[in-house]
Amino acid sequence: MRNNRKIMIAGNWKEHFTVSEASHFLHKLEESVISHHSIEVVLFPNILTLQPLSTQLDRRKFRLGAQDGYYEDAGAYTGEVSMAMLRDLVHYVLVGHSERRHLFNESDSIVAKKAQAAVRNGIMPILCVGETLQERLANETKQIIHNQLTAGLMHLTSTEASAIVIAYEPVWAIGTGEFAKPDQVEEVILYIRKQVAELLGERASRHIRILYGGSVDDQNARSFLDISSCDGALIGGASLNHLKFSKVVESAYRVQQQRTGQ
Ligand code: PGA
Repeated sequence: MRNNRKIMIAGNWKEHFTVSEASHFLHKLEESVISHHSIEVVLFPNILTLQPLSTQLDRRKFRLGAQDGYYEDAGAYTGEVSMAMLRDLVHYVLVGHSERRHLFNESDSIVAKKAQAAVRNGIMPILCVGETLQERLANETKQIIHNQLTAGLMHLTSTEASAIVIAYEPVWAIGTGEFAKPDQVEEVILYIRKQVAELLGERASRHIRILYGGSVDDQNARSFLDISSCDGALIGGASLNHLKFSKVVESAYRVQQQRTGQ
């Protein structure tokens, strides 16, 4: 069955760019990425560089997202940048990225508060879910995904939740060069859609976009984008190579053309 969900290619710039490095890299990307109305390309630079990049960005080509954001809108939280501070700068924010969950001990309940704070401030959360290698080997993948999804969506109404994006990122595939097999990805994405249908209804399940992330590059992107229930990719390492990233955008465009029968 055809779907009319727009494919998203998201670049999580996990490099600690300075403002001038980020600006230089954006310039290169603007030269190499060809824009297509049917493909949404979203860049996630570090928080320091968001503001200067927002003045440089070609908005016909790219949207901006934040890699993280704090859930309290205001108050004494030294060092935190709230979703309220990000609201005029970004369209999207990553919540629950595995590096936040594992390196910074973010619990499901913090992730849920962040998703809620994003929506409250008019920012679309990209809720990241995924199992560790140990959990996969112990056959716990679906249970983990189920727990992360139900917790992450907990504070959202069904209308709010059906507008968000979910990224399936198996922890063992992030930054390792070891990507999941397309049939593994398809199985989990279909499971996520089923869970969304149960939690929020059939309409939400048809509507919600689900991305795959974990060692996606220009060589393997097509195999994930060819999965009809997969709506795009969240790319870390390869998003820092402007040629690779622009090739992924082209692959997405070809897939979208096929999907819409053009
Ligand atoms: P990777 O990172 O593409 O380098 O595996 C993915 C991510 O950070 O979301």
